[in-house]
Amino acid sequence: MMAKHSTAIAAFFSLLVISLFNLFTEASPRFITPSKLIEQREVEAEYDYVIVGGGTAGLTVADRLTESGNFTVLVIEYGDFDNSSSIFSVVGGGQGLSNRTRLFSFPSVRQPGLNNITEQIVIGKILGGSSACNAMLFLRGQIEDYDGWASFWGGTSTWDWKGILPYFKKASTLTPPPDSLAQEFNIKYDKSFWGDTGTRIFATFPTFQWPQLKTNMNAFRDIAGITYPPDAGSGLPGVFWFPSSVNPVTITRSFARTGHWDGIARSNYHTITGSKVFKVLFEGDTASGVQYVPSTARSAITQNTKTVKARREIILSTGTIHSPQILQASGIGPKDLLGSADITVKVDLPGVGQNLQDHLYTFSQTHTFEKFDVHPNLDDMTSNATFAAAAQQLFEQDRSGPLGIGAGNAAAYLPFPVVAPDAFSKIAAAYEQADPAAHLPSNTHATIIAGYKAQQAAHAAILRSNGSASYNSVFKGGRTEGSTLHLHPVSRGSVNIDPKAPIFAEPIVDYRALSNPIDLDIMIELFKFTRRYFAVPSLAAFSPRETNPGPSVDTDAKIGNWLRGVVRPSAFHPVGTCAMLPKELGGVVDAELFVHGVKGLRVVDASVMPMLPGAYTQQSTYAIAEKAADLIKARQ
Ligand SMILES: Cc1cc2nc3c(=O)[nH]c(=O)nc-3n(C[C@H](O)[C@H](O)[C@H](O)COP(=O)(O)OP(=O)(O)OC[C@H]3O[C@@H](n4cnc5c(N)ncnc54)[C@H](O)[C@@H]3O)c2cc1C
Ligand SMILES: *[C@@H]1O[C@H](CO)[C@@H](O)[C@H](O)[C@H]1NC(C)=O
Ligand SMILES: *[C@@H]1O[C@H](CO)[C@@H](O)[C@H](O)[C@H]1NC(C)=O
Ligand SMILES: *[C@@H]1O[C@H](CO)[C@@H](O)[C@H](O)[C@H]1NC(C)=O
Ligand SMILES: *[C@@H]1O[C@H](CO)[C@@H](O)[C@H](O)[C@H]1NC(C)=O
Ligand SMILES: *[C@@H]1O[C@H](CO)[C@@H](O)[C@H](O)[C@H]1NC(C)=O
Ligand SMILES: *[C@@H]1O[C@H](CO)[C@@H](O)[C@H](O)[C@H]1NC(C)=O
Repeated sequence: MMAKHSTAIAAFFSLLVISLFNLFTEASPRFITPSKLIEQREVEAEYDYVIVGGGTAGLTVADRLTESGNFTVLVIEYGDFDNSSSIFSVVGGGQGLSNRTRLFSFPSVRQPGLNNITEQIVIGKILGGSSACNAMLFLRGQIEDYDGWASFWGGTSTWDWKGILPYFKKASTLTPPPDSLAQEFNIKYDKSFWGDTGTRIFATFPTFQWPQLKTNMNAFRDIAGITYPPDAGSGLPGVFWFPSSVNPVTITRSFARTGHWDGIARSNYHTITGSKVFKVLFEGDTASGVQYVPSTARSAITQNTKTVKARREIILSTGTIHSPQILQASGIGPKDLLGSADITVKVDLPGVGQNLQDHLYTFSQTHTFEKFDVHPNLDDMTSNATFAAAAQQLFEQDRSGPLGIGAGNAAAYLPFPVVAPDAFSKIAAAYEQADPAAHLPSNTHATIIAGYKAQQAAHAAILRSNGSASYNSVFKGGRTEGSTLHLHPVSRGSVNIDPKAPIFAEPIVDYRALSNPIDLDIMIELFKFTRRYFAVPSLAAFSPRETNPGPSVDTDAKIGNWLRGVVRPSAFHPVGTCAMLPKELGGVVDAELFVHGVKGLRVVDASVMPMLPGAYTQQSTYAIAEKAADLIKARQ
């Protein structure tokens, strides 16, 4: 991949240009190779910035920091550069999970709240990270989510809706649906919530939708309090259509690599793949470099262990599961945990790896329409399999869509008072009055309890608010529908190094799903709402029938019992383990994303979200990365 200078003259000329450049600019790039994917042996001794993790956030930041040409950047990625065609496929929600070799995949600990199941943790392990394997649903949370993040800083934070909206706009480029389709399906969008900056991360509406979706979406009008916001990115809950992260011209996956890496030839932007960072190095209190090995290595005691230094900053972008692992392995974390692993404590920072949250969900509560609003070209769509095949066929005909029948582009993101008008107030009060420590592990540090208490107030407000979304259902327009997500879970889990093998074993991930019983109370209400929805008058003509679990599961106790057997603890949206919170509230990074207690080290990825947004997480991750890049540049 290295550029080869074909003649001595060319080599001489480029060296001359570079030395002249060096003569005049202090912090200038020093590289002679203009290509970016380099071999380990070509890595320079020092860069301005070292970015650990070439994923969703990491590549976004790397692109922005190298734009001016003033700074050199090295990205170190664990996975490989892989350009297989399956990565680009968009039908059926993408084939992101089709190839396990580009995924981290290991089990969580047993979940007592879910009948002792373990969940397989799935994360992208490839240049592009999880954006290279996700389902491409492209969504923002609510205004109240981001105002909530800022609220923990007593008025000094710029991470509120007003402060993050410009970065949502910068992070992607919208392609609206064709007018005729928008009219036929009543798809609302408003370009003022999107930017026009040429960013090559694409938010694209398909040019086709299944007819049944009209019925599904309109049926919500039968329920009191339902609203239809002006745009998927308006920050308001309700029933709306949303785009997919898909290139509108080629109709292929749009992800961090295609948007922030492919086709960029900058001599100051280096990337190595197949390399695992296991430690941040310090000079005094300042992060000065990182150590890494080939990702196939099973021990750090190898001649292949390398060090690279950063003149300005180290940026950890290894995601919610691995960023806390690297911090802990580097001596930044809860001191007892580090002690048990024989790691010298650099900063006793109790919050590292704690506060883990993910969306709880079930696809098992299903309803089947006996009479189905069938697309005229398709005479038999009696099973999901034929439905998927029909989508594939349609796609091959004219590359129209829908761009992910796995989940479609139509959804309900609903407030708890609308979902549970009779129960929300009682549940919110019971939750608010509970001892914050009651359902956290018994040895939880006082600062983390204080932080949870602050989050408890925020959660109680969410449960009472018509401006937040607690319930989510995504429709695919098929004969059988059934997806229910709990968007703001109140239980908290953890990611901790394995004391026996802190670096070369995967960390110990415990979702602690439903450890706070309020989560089950909420999910019972979400379940009953789904049932209420399928019973509305507008759907009656299509004869929906509850196919699972069926009418015999009728009391709250029976529903709760059934849910414990089917709920999954992770919708692949883990956040919170390096939370942007004050240290007194159990935080890991400050509002500039610097790790508390050291200098020159930031975390920029999904792990910094202190609380889950009421939405899938990729768009928020891109916005965080865009804002972080400006914060980093502002320090120059
Ligand atoms: C299967 C799946 C489906 C999803 N579906 C959706 C969806 O439809 N819509 C949505 O909005 N969100 C979805 N998400 C969530 C979304 O993709 C993530 O929240 C987001 O991409 C996280 O970005 P990140 O930068 O935090 O981490 P990542 O993008 O995961 O990047 C972390 C990178 O760090 C690398 N790394 C890890 N450890 C090391 C190490 N020690 N040294 C060097 N590199 C390392 C990894 O290989 C990876 O490339 C999905 C996620 C998954 C996994
Ligand atoms: C790059 O550096 C030059 C020289 O120091 C400076 O004039 C310019 O503003 C910088 N550009 C950016 C985008 O920071
Ligand atoms: C990746 O593959 C696509 C075709 O599938 C091709 O157009 C593109 O150039 C390839 N990218 C790289 C960097 O090799
Ligand atoms: C699966 O992923 C690996 C690693 O990224 C890659 O080398 C291989 O070509 C992929 N296989 C297919 C069938 O896409
Ligand atoms: C889960 O495991 C625990 C401990 O082994 C056991 O006591 C409990 O009965 C199990 N629960 C279920 C539902 O199997
Ligand atoms: C929330 O919406 C419901 C349903 O429309 C309504 O009854 C309730 O008054 C609203 N609550 C607030 C606080 O506005
Ligand atoms: C259709 O989907 C339901 C629910 O997801 C599943 O239980 C069923 O097995 C699927 N049927 C086919 C034929 O794939």
